[in-house]
Amino acid sequence: MEGRQLKRVRGSTRVRSAVLWEVLRGVLVRIAPGGGPSAVVDVGGGTGGFAVPLAELGHRVTVVDASPDALAALERRAAEAGVRVRAVQGDAADLPDLLGPGAADLVLCHSVLEYVDDPAAAMAALAQAVRPGGAVSLLTSGKIAAVLHRAIAGHFDDAARLLADPAGRWGEGDRMPRRFTRESLSELAAGAGLRVAELHGVRIFADLVPGGTLDADAASADALIALESAAAGHPVLRDLATQLHLVADKPGP
Ligand SMILES: C[S@@+](CC[C@H](N)C(=O)[O-])C[C@H]1O[C@@H](n2cnc3c(N)ncnc32)[C@H](O)[C@@H]1O
Repeated sequence: MEGRQLKRVRGSTRVRSAVLWEVLRGVLVRIAPGGGPSAVVDVGGGTGGFAVPLAELGHRVTVVDASPDALAALERRAAEAGVRVRAVQGDAADLPDLLGPGAADLVLCHSVLEYVDDPAAAMAALAQAVRPGGAVSLLTSGKIAAVLHRAIAGHFDDAARLLADPAGRWGEGDRMPRRFTRESLSELAAGAGLRVAELHGVRIFADLVPGGTLDADAASADALIALESAAAGHPVLRDLATQLHLVADKPGP
């Protein structure tokens, strides 16, 4: 299913999401041996970029999102794909009240912890929402990559400010409320009683390469996907990735 879908998308898009999907597939097999259907809760799932493909793979997917507009777009996207995704409006911090504790085998929280009012409170709620033995998938913006990208663009003062700022922002004009390092993201998960199982870098090289090259040349895109996959767990290179992907397990039975 997913392979068919990926053939339709551009090379640059494939490169950006390939490592993440590879890891998610492994996690779904690990938490439900044999890869049977799981209950997946996508917190801040937005318009369904992860939720709809997961539903297409047969999983029971619920999206909890603060934005009614995003949920409306999600419902349209799910209908077009011919799958059902449950849409619940609410805040990440209220997850256990919205769904009940331990409702999920897998909780996704992708590109959301950067924006929530209180990351520790949201993290505690994610941990409560997953069943013992289940897993949480966190995807966040990486601070070190942002330092590199500002410097490469010639914004050296911004890069220095970003490096020194605990929240990983380069100034008032920075639209990102916070960015994470491997350490800060791991501490957040551990603080909620979760055990870090895997930490990968997503888009280590992809954002340093002109997108047009990848869109025009499928073989280049394939080679870069192989390189991203090989480097994703490298102890130095993963820290340079645009996004950090952490999979944490909830200790269980
Ligand atoms: C950048 S989008 C990410 C969407 C999706 N997870 C993805 O990776 O494509 C952030 C989403 O988080 C939602 N969001 C932001 N703060 C939230 C909160 N406190 N609780 C629930 N959803 C929130 C926004 O409405 C938006 O849909």
